[in-house]
Amino acid sequence: SLRIAVFASGSGSNFQALAEAIRDTGINASIELVVCDKPSAYVLERAKHFNIETYTFRPKDYSSREDYEREIVAKLERERIDLIVLAGYMRIITDVLVEPYCGRMINIHPSLLPVFPGINGIGQALEYGVKITGVTVHFVDGGMDTGPIIAQHAVEVEENDSEETLAARIHRVEHELLPKVVGWIAEGQVSVTGRKVTITN
Ligand code: GAR
Repeated sequence: SLRIAVFASGSGSNFQALAEAIRDTGINASIELVVCDKPSAYVLERAKHFNIETYTFRPKDYSSREDYEREIVAKLERERIDLIVLAGYMRIITDVLVEPYCGRMINIHPSLLPVFPGINGIGQALEYGVKITGVTVHFVDGGMDTGPIIAQHAVEVEENDSEETLAARIHRVEHELLPKVVGWIAEGQVSVTGRKVTITN
């Protein structure tokens, strides 16, 4: 069974959707740890509700990203984590984390990558005026939202969308797509060759 660590910085609705899917459906996985860089983040309440261990740190207590990431990697190794899921983890990550988990770390992003990477993918889409945006789940490499794409789902931008109304529809799609991808990975259905990701049945 796949041992997962979810990294999150905020509300954690994607953590919640994944935890519920694992509890309620046959996904052969367990969330063993929630890693969070914000001691006040609501995701920590959600984790407590599911009785899932949390690892919280304050970046300001460290002199570099690499320093806190080394401690995180040690914790992930102690917990024998197989898969890292970045679900609203709003920090740049370094090779300290990327290298040991290459091919074993995924990210969910609220746009159709490669457009609108980085922060506020939803606001960027509205600002640009695109008529279609969406959600991407991808493997994490050394770049900013650049790794091999596993799955995408389109969401139409409506005439009178605000950031809130569009975000609500994006989130509904995220909450379906992320558990689906984790299910595929848990069943060994996902393989990567270069940039190309194949899902087998
Ligand atoms: C999600 O929309 C996720 O796609 C986005 O943060 C939100 C977290 O929501 N991630 C990024 O923008 C990463 N660059 P949640 O805390 O409710 O899961």
